[in-house]
Amino acid sequence: MILIFLSIHLNNILVSGLSLSEQVHQTPADMFKQPGEEAKFNCFHTISNYDKILWYKQTNEQLQFLGYMNINNGYPENGAGVKIEGGAEKDQNCTLTIERLKLSSSAVYFCAARLHNREAYFGGGTKLTVLGKDDKITPPTVKVLEPSEKECRNKVEKEKRKKTLLCVISRFYPDHVNVTWKINNEEMSKGVATDNMPAQPNDGEFYKITSRLKVDANKWFDPENEFKCIASFFNGTGTTYHENGTRGIEAPKTGQNITTEAYLKRSQTAKLSYGVLIIKGCVYGAFVMFLVWKLPGSSGKRNN
Ligand SMILES: *[C@@H]1O[C@H](CO)[C@@H](O)[C@H](O)[C@H]1NC(C)=O
Ligand SMILES: *[C@@H]1O[C@H](CO)[C@@H](O)[C@H](O)[C@H]1NC(C)=O
Ligand SMILES: *[C@@H]1O[C@H](CO)[C@@H](O)[C@H](O)[C@H]1NC(C)=O
Ligand SMILES: *[C@@H]1O[C@H](CO)[C@@H](O)[C@H](O)[C@H]1NC(C)=O
Ligand SMILES: *[C@@H]1O[C@H](CO)[C@@H](O)[C@H](O)[C@H]1NC(C)=O
Repeated sequence: MILIFLSIHLNNILVSGLSLSEQVHQTPADMFKQPGEEAKFNCFHTISNYDKILWYKQTNEQLQFLGYMNINNGYPENGAGVKIEGGAEKDQNCTLTIERLKLSSSAVYFCAARLHNREAYFGGGTKLTVLGKDDKITPPTVKVLEPSEKECRNKVEKEKRKKTLLCVISRFYPDHVNVTWKINNEEMSKGVATDNMPAQPNDGEFYKITSRLKVDANKWFDPENEFKCIASFFNGTGTTYHENGTRGIEAPKTGQNITTEAYLKRSQTAKLSYGVLIIKGCVYGAFVMFLVWKLPGSSGKRNN
């Protein structure tokens, strides 16, 4: 039974784990420990008849089976160095204990509820980091970068109406962060893409992760709208929140005097022809017409 179960691809496991976690509960979500200390992970489920709880350790792409509990009996794998206690039936606690933690114990620990050959249901996991002697808990720095002005260029037609904000969450340790985006304090679920794994640039001591929010251009071209990126960070005892944000901007008013002047000021030294070239990619048709009208030899002049 366990062999069949293990043959399921990790991705499937994690996907079903996410969609079914309402019925299988794991506490705590995050944990920091020192080497040599003991860690206890709790799991219970609310599924009638299910009477087995299985335990797994996930590091990177690997899932290691640690053992299971059948009703009231724990069966830890040989050499896994764990204890499994409690009960595996509905509303009972099942506890996995690692008695002497090593640095290599850092991982996400999952439990799954099962019944014979029925589908397994996963909990949300407990993420454990065993801190080294010199590891310093450091909350993240958050910075939102506005959409690039050039984003409307060189894109397929339907992408033209989108703007992308970038959030850089950096200089944190360890990697216990979640990232959310809010527009006017309302959490966004659509259009958000966050890196799967935080990176350690230059093998440094800190982690860094980026997240992108893609919105309709008309959302961005509205100074009333406030865009916020929020990183929640587990600090060993609780969660702290770190945010940065920005406001939308006025829409560039095509063909109007004010926008033209602002534009020309920004690129004062640039040649007019170069300006025309940049604008060409964007949808400022009327704007371009206006410039053409002002050029010597164009219709505006000829009328004189
Ligand atoms: C299960 O464990 C949790 C967390 O330690 C605890 O709050 C809860 O009371 C326990 N429930 C039972 C039925 O023992
Ligand atoms: C991250 O999200 C998970 C799932 O929603 C939650 O259980 C956990 O507490 C969060 N951790 C932090 C540090 O916000
Ligand atoms: C960790 O977070 C908790 C809860 O948000 C807070 O009370 C505590 O001061 C933080 N600890 C440190 C060391 O920042
Ligand atoms: C975001 O960060 C920048 C620079 O780090 C700062 O100037 C700005 O005021 C911050 N904005 C908000 C809304 O926190
Ligand atoms: C352009 O706007 C300025 C004020 O910003 C105004 O003085 C000027 O007359 C306007 N020019 C035209 C052609 O509308």
